[in-house]
Amino acid sequence: METVKLTIDNKHVEVPKGTTILQAAKQAGINIPSLCYMNLPHLAQEHKPGSCRVCVVEIPGKKTLVPACVTKCTDGMEVLSHSLRAINARRTVVELLLSDHPKDCLICPSSGNCELQKLSINMGIREINSVENAAISTYRKDSSPSLLRNMDKCVMCRSCETICNEIQTVGALSAVNRGFMSVVAPAFEQDLTDSPCTFCGQCVAVCPTGALTAVDNTFHVIRALADPTKTVLIQTAPAVRAALGEEFGYTPGTLVTGKMVAALRALGFDKVFDTDFAADLTIMEEGTELLNRISRHLSGDKSVRLPILTSCCPAWVNFFETNYSDMLDVPSTARSPQQMFGSIAKTYLAEKMGIKRENMVVVSVMPCLAKKYECQREEFKVDGNPDVDYSITTRELAHLIRMGNVDFKSLKDEDFDRPMGESTGAGVIFGATGGVIEAATRTAYELFTGKKTGKSRFLRTKGNGWDQNRYYRF
Ligand code: SF4
Ligand code: SF4
Ligand code: FES
Repeated sequence: METVKLTIDNKHVEVPKGTTILQAAKQAGINIPSLCYMNLPHLAQEHKPGSCRVCVVEIPGKKTLVPACVTKCTDGMEVLSHSLRAINARRTVVELLLSDHPKDCLICPSSGNCELQKLSINMGIREINSVENAAISTYRKDSSPSLLRNMDKCVMCRSCETICNEIQTVGALSAVNRGFMSVVAPAFEQDLTDSPCTFCGQCVAVCPTGALTAVDNTFHVIRALADPTKTVLIQTAPAVRAALGEEFGYTPGTLVTGKMVAALRALGFDKVFDTDFAADLTIMEEGTELLNRISRHLSGDKSVRLPILTSCCPAWVNFFETNYSDMLDVPSTARSPQQMFGSIAKTYLAEKMGIKRENMVVVSVMPCLAKKYECQREEFKVDGNPDVDYSITTRELAHLIRMGNVDFKSLKDEDFDRPMGESTGAGVIFGATGGVIEAATRTAYELFTGKKTGKSRFLRTKGNGWDQNRYYRF
């Protein structure tokens, strides 16, 4: 492999030809700040529009500073990432961005989780030298069941556009207008609910500011918990127990199942259940449906649709409905675990507990924004009463726990309530990419042969997933 040798901040670095200064610096342990740059190695997607200029560095002898994210290293190059000139230019860029940005950090939903805020803190910016009393650009606000758009806070990095178009292949977002009026928006400035948006939330996950954020349902839940006429149940998805700990200082990925259950009881939930219970039901349905379709196909039924695809993801189902209405018989007919749980809770369990459906509130904690949209779909309501009333994210749950003054780390482990707190390993692997289809194929195999599957038989159904360290945002 052809390499080039250079120095960055007097450190000698040797990198493959074609490497950018930003990547080479990272390799040398030097963190050059960036904003519009996004790297998703697991998805082989590198987004580098080179537009924000936050990453500018000095190359002695060169008239202008260069953006490190798009400038390739050359042999003998000398790079200064924190010369006075580079720091001044970088600070000016951030000040200019802030000069056309709302200054409501204290109440912004992205506060504490915003790249622009982090840049401003790290650069020690204490005042913004903008034209006095100059108005900032404002845009129409847009809300949907899952996400909110506040383009006043958009820095035009266009990461959302890349993720929506290149990775999700939905194409709901693209850059519109010019100059100060330029934003990323659905075609003709439609509302997201009228656009092809599937509410997958991936644009929210990559937005570095508060321009795209999740709908927050925590206060609906607090009100329900405070209402003595309501019995409030909660179901938690498998991924939540592995992500929640990070919010309370545990190493990412630490399982905190017992403490999570204890925290939910301390908050006042009447029953704490596991969505894995419903995931098992989904898998029995999907596995049986797969077997049924294969059997019909093998016996010559030409009308049967293969392959079967999972119907557990509401964004995926929405994508089919919007783009492939002629293929609606491909996904399984099973409800998602969230909705199976809700319908069983409000029928079987409500009857067992002697509670009227309208006096039962079902809350779900999900690692996915589309679940907020899914539980509002009309087909998941009975006389206007939804099977699942509110869906919240892991982050919203962490807020609830903090608001409830619960000292998470000191809690003693507790178990889920029975019977809807029991599950098998099939429900648990839902939390990993490809886990649903692995569980479905294992179930179909076991139903057909009557034998247990070996551990490694269906490993190829699993994907690589996201880089959770950087992109777990819900
Ligand atoms: S939620 Fe998903 S589909 Fe909708 S705009 Fe964002 S990335 Fe695109
Ligand atoms: S909405 Fe967010 S991700 Fe999209 S361009 Fe604006 S700042 Fe970037
Ligand atoms: S991060 Fe390099 S130009 Fe934006």
